Amino acid sequence: MSEVFDVAVIGAGPGGYVAAIRCAQLGLNTVCIDEWKNTKGKASLGGTCLNVGCIPSKALLESSEGYFQIKHKVSAHGIVVEQVSIDVPTMIARKDKIVTTFTAGISSLFKKNKVTSVHGRGTLLQSDVATNAWQIRVDSGGNSETVQAKHVIVATGSVPRPLPMAAIDNESILDNAGALALTETPKRLGVIGAGVIGLEMGSVWRRLGAEVTILEAMPGFLMAADEQVAKEAKSIFAKETGLQIQTGINIQSIKSTNSGVSVSYTDADQQAHVLEVDKLIVAIGRIPNTTGLGVKENGMALDDRGFINVDQHCRTNLPNVYAVGDVVRGPMLAHKASEEGVVVAEMIAHLEKGQAGESEAVDFNTIPWVIYTVPEIAWVGKTEQELRAAGVAYKIGQFPFIANGRARAMNATAGFVKVIADEQTDRVLGVHMIGPHVSELISEAVMAMKFSASSEDIACIVHAHPSLSEVFHEAALGVNKRALHI
Ligand code: FAD
Ligand code: NAI
Repeated sequence: MSEVFDVAVIGAGPGGYVAAIRCAQLGLNTVCIDEWKNTKGKASLGGTCLNVGCIPSKALLESSEGYFQIKHKVSAHGIVVEQVSIDVPTMIARKDKIVTTFTAGISSLFKKNKVTSVHGRGTLLQSDVATNAWQIRVDSGGNSETVQAKHVIVATGSVPRPLPMAAIDNESILDNAGALALTETPKRLGVIGAGVIGLEMGSVWRRLGAEVTILEAMPGFLMAADEQVAKEAKSIFAKETGLQIQTGINIQSIKSTNSGVSVSYTDADQQAHVLEVDKLIVAIGRIPNTTGLGVKENGMALDDRGFINVDQHCRTNLPNVYAVGDVVRGPMLAHKASEEGVVVAEMIAHLEKGQAGESEAVDFNTIPWVIYTVPEIAWVGKTEQELRAAGVAYKIGQFPFIANGRARAMNATAGFVKVIADEQTDRVLGVHMIGPHVSELISEAVMAMKFSASSEDIACIVHAHPSLSEVFHEAALGVNKRALHI
């Protein structure tokens, strides 16, 4: 291509495609290069999130929860359903349809916004002195072309962290892609890693009837979450969901057998065990993806964990090269990736208009986390243990869903909301939730924190009755010992 674009984005996940759309909206001539191919060998935009991450996992979580509710829960409402069964291939086909609809939707958004879409692997070559533009070689199916752009946004995402002794074949030893594509419910499912993927995918297959054992290396459970939330979650998962979670384990060996997979491990007391399962999901975290990008050749700086080094405005050490999303430091979340993409697009637009200045850096303290189990878990800001470690004086308001009329009506009373505020200023420092639909409720807490609200500010807001949001309101009232319904 002889054309010199204003911006080339490498990667069309939620970091890259959002950056490309925002660049185009701001009048920048933009190209987005992406190499993802789906299982049918077709180019598919949207990265991990749309193809094998956020969207397909939530589709299966919805289907499996629907089945579980009908089979085990609706009888409490007097609804009698006989002979419930699950047709797993139909459930998977529904998930696949959602994925193709959304990935095709990104193509339409690109067309609408006049983003040029190029399929293939992008390798950063060098900056051309004459044109002052970066050269990017794009390889696809044996063909190669060169794309030129003044600015480059790297959004190449992440890949599953490998466990050397467990080669992924997506037949019996599965990564996230394999865990989302099973065509029947395994009788016995093992999961290595009690992180977000382990809990969400373990929940899907548990609800459909699998015996699920999750083996976690860390001594504690969900150590990034608020301690009290993690304790509540572990107890509910063990007693009600039926997930067998063992922490403090050490994997010794993993072998494929005729009937499945055999996992040898020692427990927290150094006792040896063997777990025999039909399928094994390996979900021990993800690592930044810089393969084939030309990082070494260009002297692009990486940190000691392999993430591309960026400043708070996502600038790399190379001129006019930025990086966003999972490939840089910070939480590996789709909404974090997208927000960084927007920030960088706006900064490039400023630069192109000859305006100095930096756009506002992404505030990691107000990025929400959600785990889509039942009950859901969500939080924003600091945990109690973080505040204790930092020596910050704080006060707490907490309110349980069991005392909420809507939660009772829904028969979903497990969990609570906890608001943590500064002891002196009353400013909200963190909000932690476990319970029904907290993935939605957390947004109000994010907004409160973004606007530097105090617990008193939230207490002054009228919440609809009866609604789950009253639990957040009551927790905020509770910070100053004013909760009404407990
Ligand atoms: P990615 O989405 O990984 O996209 C990177 C893209 O770049 C890919 O298409 C890749 O093919 C392409 N690429 C890489 N290198 C090159 C190259 N050299 N040339 C061309 N193209 C290249 N996050 C949430 O916020 N909520 C969730 O509910 C959630 N659920 C998840 C469930 C699962 C099972 C998994 C695995 C992840 C989940 N995540 C979730 C995390 C989320 O998917 C990631 O944080 C997000 O996708 C990161 O976006 P990204 O744009 O940085 O990278
Ligand atoms: P994770 O980091 O959430 O959890 C990995 C777990 O594996 C950790 O608890 C870790 O201690 C454990 N582990 C590591 N090595 C181990 C070993 N050898 N043996 C046993 N346990 C071991 O990573 P996960 O679940 O793979 O997900 C990757 C990322 O994807 C998440 O961190 C998150 O950023 C994103 N994601 C987000 C979701 C959401 O927002 N709802 C859903 C799914 C994924």
